[in-house]
Amino acid sequence: MDDEKWSEVDRYLTDLYVPDDPVLRATLAESAAAKLPDIQVSPPQGKLLHLLAQIRGTRRILEIGTLGGYSTIWLARALPPGGHLISLELDARHAEVARSNVARAGLAHVVEVRVGPAAESLPRLAAEGAEPFDLIFIDADKQGYPEYLTWALKLSRRGSVIVADNVVRDGGVADPNTTDPSNRGIRRFHEMLAAESRVSATAIQTVGSKGYDGFALAFVTRDP
Ligand code: SAH
Ligand code: DHB
Ligand code: MG
Repeated sequence: MDDEKWSEVDRYLTDLYVPDDPVLRATLAESAAAKLPDIQVSPPQGKLLHLLAQIRGTRRILEIGTLGGYSTIWLARALPPGGHLISLELDARHAEVARSNVARAGLAHVVEVRVGPAAESLPRLAAEGAEPFDLIFIDADKQGYPEYLTWALKLSRRGSVIVADNVVRDGGVADPNTTDPSNRGIRRFHEMLAAESRVSATAIQTVGSKGYDGFALAFVTRDP
């Protein structure tokens, strides 16, 4: 089994489960035209995020790592009228592309993209007295995951769902001696999440058009 097969199967599943969508197609095309890295979640993963938000009856979503807004649009489309999504992005250029894609999707009134390092935006959100979020998607720099998890918990309540992308990283995460800062960040994230008494959590490996990686899922069972 190799990447070619994983991509072939992802195309097969995408054709079945993810109907062609002009807005998402344009989002990917505009992101590519703007030379953004091709690292957004895959179509089936985007739909998984969408379904998780729907299943949860989510009204408030926090995303950490916007890129061109592909996952943002999948998530925001699951919100009921009056719902809100805040997405945090370091790179002002990524945020601009995302805002334009979000506007094309008709979601400009639902989505707020905030520019800056998430490690600064998160405490600011908390200081503003932001209401707890129902779903938090962590997908920014991997060194930051431990800190983002800490803030995600602060910004949660009982019943919130926390999802994190890229938690396997080609298997690099299983190497206890890794010196790679991203792998170290993800390992620390797993250790914190597994030891956290206020959540019930798991992580699964995934393969597909985005290679070999994984998702973590946590359910907040007690008020943080
Ligand atoms: N969630 C997106 C992909 C995000 S890629 C999707 O699936 O469509 C990771 C993003 O995190 C990049 O746009 C990168 O600029 C951003 N990022 C990196 N470091 C960051 C930081 N310290 N704070 C906020 N965002 C950051
Ligand atoms: C990278 C970041 C991501 O969020 C992702 O899904 C894949 C790769 C990266 O920084 O390389
Ligand atoms: Mg990712």
